[in-house]
Amino acid sequence: MKIAIVGCGSRHSMFAQSIGEDYPDKHEVVAMCDNNPHRLGIAAAAASRAGTNGVATYDASAFDDMIAEQKPDTVVITTPDFLHADYIVRAFEAGCDVICEKPMTIDLSSLKQITEAQRRTGRQVRVTFNYRYSPARTQIKDMLASGTIGTITAVDFRWHLDRVHGADYFRRWHRQKENSGGLLVHKSTHHFDLLNWWLASTPTKVMATGQRAFYRPETAVEFGLEGRGERCATCPVAAKCDFELDMDADANLHALYRQAEGEDGYFRDLCVFDEDIGIEDTMQAHITYGSGATANYTLTAYSPWEGLEIRFQGTKGELIHKHIEVHGVFGGERAHAGKDSVWTELHLAGQKPEQIEVPVAEGHHGGADPVMLGYIFDPDNMEPDAYGRASDHVAGGWSILTGIAANLSIETGSAVDVQTMLDTRAITLA
Ligand SMILES: NC(=O)c1ccc[n+]([C@@H]2O[C@H](COP(=O)([O-])OP(=O)(O)OC[C@H]3O[C@@H](n4cnc5c(N)ncnc54)[C@H](O)[C@@H]3O)[C@@H](O)[C@H]2O)c1
Repeated sequence: MKIAIVGCGSRHSMFAQSIGEDYPDKHEVVAMCDNNPHRLGIAAAAASRAGTNGVATYDASAFDDMIAEQKPDTVVITTPDFLHADYIVRAFEAGCDVICEKPMTIDLSSLKQITEAQRRTGRQVRVTFNYRYSPARTQIKDMLASGTIGTITAVDFRWHLDRVHGADYFRRWHRQKENSGGLLVHKSTHHFDLLNWWLASTPTKVMATGQRAFYRPETAVEFGLEGRGERCATCPVAAKCDFELDMDADANLHALYRQAEGEDGYFRDLCVFDEDIGIEDTMQAHITYGSGATANYTLTAYSPWEGLEIRFQGTKGELIHKHIEVHGVFGGERAHAGKDSVWTELHLAGQKPEQIEVPVAEGHHGGADPVMLGYIFDPDNMEPDAYGRASDHVAGGWSILTGIAANLSIETGSAVDVQTMLDTRAITLA
């Protein structure tokens, strides 16, 4: 398969490396596209393979020329979120299939464009929900789908982002809703996708609250950071700020972003306490599903640890899962937690709670990324996927609808009926 990649920042390399190192006989990156020549050059050099013509590079303004000249079968989209839809539609129209990073898009109007273009062209988009593929999460799917706890009635789901990972969304493009949809879309698309998949259902009603409680000027003052600057590189109090991102001390960040700043003014280290940040860091939603189940969901972006906690209540009992992905930050080591940091417990009514042995795997995102890449780039050599983990525009669409409805609920203070929201825009997800 001939592949073109658009958006050559940090995430694109997962795809480029996997194609070049794991599947060189099956696929080839023939072209790359970015609006930043510096990052584009680094990406193309890294992806070029001996004995080939190398990787052709195109400025963002020449995306359509790239497709016409290089004739890729598939376009991988790893740009900022608000650009996904336009590239999906243009790739479809040019006869390509798409592999798109999450979230598929960020709002209703662009969702409509994608669904209409998909129907018109018959092309496919694969949204890369890597979390579905981690062995621990697949095991939960297996237990729920086989009726272990009976009919699922209620769920409590909390996701904690720590002060390193969480803070990163407040430094750059993610920090405005028009770029990312806010964390309820950008980040929660993973979590709401997991809920849709685990429950084998879709949301019907969403009521949410959200606030920026931590990444704001008052917190900087509380931490003694008066006189803070616009960005870490020039901040007079950076040395005493736990949130400093020193790009000059990190070879990768320096090469990819700091050296590229002059070309597009993309500063990767804006102050996380800025007044003009437009997204929330503390969000809660109450969701009703078509199956009848209900869920309480919490996302915070400044936790002292990173990971998830979930409890499923069912007619036969309870299933509990907790995964500490990262142990402590600040004043301690930020360490990726090991095997003993994943718990799954089954408590059937009338029986003692039982610890379930959780399978583990190597690789990013709890071993999820390599498995997902295998299914994308070499499906014939993988086990048939009994869990339906591949996600198309329908799953991609449903995964953002909970967050879009939650954003609307925060704005209006009312519960949002999801079907009414879709009908108002004449959006059909099929
Ligand atoms: N699934 C996951 O676990 C995961 C992890 C990280 C990122 N992501 C997703 O990957 C995507 C990229 O994230 P990132 O962290 O690499 O961002 P990034 O900012 O590091 O990279 C984005 C790249 O897109 C380029 N770009 C900007 N405008 C462009 C345009 N008009 N045309 C072409 N290129 C343009 C930028 O120059 C940059 O090189 C996002 O959608 C993000 O949600 C997913």
